[in-house]
Amino acid sequence: MKTVLYKEGWLNLKHEPGIDFVQEINYLKKKKNAVLLAHYYQNNDIQDVADYIGDSLGLAQEAKKTTADIILFAGVHFMAETAKILNPNKKVLIPDLKAGCSLADSCPPEQFKAFKEAHKDHVVISYINCTAEIKALSDIICTSSNALRIVESLPKQQKIIFAPDKNLGNYIVKKTGREMILWDGACMVHEIFDLEKLIKLKIQHPDAEVIAHPECEQKILDYADFIGSTTALLNYTTGSFAKKFIVVTETGILYQMQKNNPDKQFIAAPPNNSCACNECPYMKRNTLEKIYTALKYEEPEITMDERLMTAALKPMLRMLELSEKAV
Ligand code: 13P
Ligand code: SF4
Repeated sequence: MKTVLYKEGWLNLKHEPGIDFVQEINYLKKKKNAVLLAHYYQNNDIQDVADYIGDSLGLAQEAKKTTADIILFAGVHFMAETAKILNPNKKVLIPDLKAGCSLADSCPPEQFKAFKEAHKDHVVISYINCTAEIKALSDIICTSSNALRIVESLPKQQKIIFAPDKNLGNYIVKKTGREMILWDGACMVHEIFDLEKLIKLKIQHPDAEVIAHPECEQKILDYADFIGSTTALLNYTTGSFAKKFIVVTETGILYQMQKNNPDKQFIAAPPNNSCACNECPYMKRNTLEKIYTALKYEEPEITMDERLMTAALKPMLRMLELSEKAV
């Protein structure tokens, strides 16, 4: 007996006792020629069963080149939507439709349209963490791993709107010296880190390097020894001579850091209260059980308006093209 209310992203499945989700997921992936793409912020058990784990750029590139018939995206909604935009003819599934994103939510399309209208002579660069509607209103998309390169690819006199993340925007302004008009959006997970607590932690671990994601606030980034996307942070920990790291981003990334560097120590930076707010509640909605049922019933599926997909594809392709060129 099962109850499945997929459309609302809620699921209550009374499965046979003793079912091995990992085994079933692997069997269904093979049978249906499906690929499981997962972001580094997913739970460890999901990372272990994924065919590819990556940052937003890596995941978009992987989605673009896959030959699978079905893409199951263990991440949040804008990521699965991006995979669909890149693959309008493939079936794209997400384990939980309610896996949203506070940053994407901080940029409502109607308000952004008016903002854009008020700055007509500006090129719009949008961070990939936004809805398809915002992508469709943009000229180029970027991720945290290629943002500097994308901004610098534009002529110096070109006026730029950057949306939706003001923290990443400020970081780019500081690094490139370019003026940009910023949309006032932010990620609730990356804004929760507390500088005072971070400094106290560093005092306890003076030999640790502080590494941070550019979605963090400026005061945190100013304190960090290294700043980068999740993949860049991961690679940095492997390349660095340091043996200890304080990691200022969502805690999911620590799993691969530890796996790749068993001899090193990773400490999650503390939030400004006693909750587990350095975990993304949206990313953590996904579970092995939901992945299994999504693959089995091929739902919930990402469906999108054709015109919206076409409009959102253009700035995405521009990003992918710029990302291919050597730095
Ligand atoms: P990256 O993995 O591209 O660094 O993005 C982090 C993030 O917040 C994804 O939601
Ligand atoms: Fe969105 Fe922040 Fe969660 Fe990433 S970590 S999905 S930006 S809320």
